[in-house]
Amino acid sequence: MHISVLSASTRINRASHRVALALEQYINGQGIHTAKILDLAEYRFPVLEEILHRHPNPPDGLEAFAAEIRGSDACIFVSPEYNGSYTSALKNAIDYLKEGEFAQKAIGIAGVSAGMMGGMRAGLAMQQLALAISGFPAPQMLLVGQVTQRFDEVGNLTDPSFEKNIQAFLKQFTWLAEAVADKKMALVAG
Ligand SMILES: Cc1cc2nc3c(=O)[nH]c(=O)nc-3n(C[C@H](O)[C@H](O)[C@H](O)COP(=O)(O)O)c2cc1C
Repeated sequence: MHISVLSASTRINRASHRVALALEQYINGQGIHTAKILDLAEYRFPVLEEILHRHPNPPDGLEAFAAEIRGSDACIFVSPEYNGSYTSALKNAIDYLKEGEFAQKAIGIAGVSAGMMGGMRAGLAMQQLALAISGFPAPQMLLVGQVTQRFDEVGNLTDPSFEKNIQAFLKQFTWLAEAVADKKMALVAG
């Protein structure tokens, strides 16, 4: 199974990208599934003027981004909490894709904040977003408060007590993602 990890902060000196790096490393390190970060700070999509399949001149990288999502069995959205929700960059990127790219895929949710609350409101809003694009949001979110105390700049865990949170999140997310992928394989096999 291949998992896209959408890293949703485009801010200079962002900290939530550390969580995306950590999840990518954990998943690839387990050797069962593959994961790749899709970094919205690298794509730098302009504010939507038209959705991809009707766009006369799609922004650079948008076709490639859509292909990455289409080629994924499941996704994880990693976003900081900004003013009580996820980032506008995440909403903008997802709004471009209206051809069912996320439909019937498991979607894991990671909410991130500098404070104690761990991006709870961003996480809940991302669950609603996942439903709106016909995905299956995993019930258990990864909530990362005090992010700079838990991960370093390259995504290494600096707070060993947090490892159980990552393991529990990935266990439940991959269970759902595998169940969905197995069902699709069974349908294809007839
Ligand atoms: C525009 C903006 C709005 C923010 N709003 C919230 C918020 O509503 N709740 C919260 O816990 N933290 C909020 N923060 C702080 C973030 O939790 C903090 O920046 C954290 O490091 C994660 O975001 P980052 O990936 O951009 O670094 C906000 C930060 C910015 C830049």
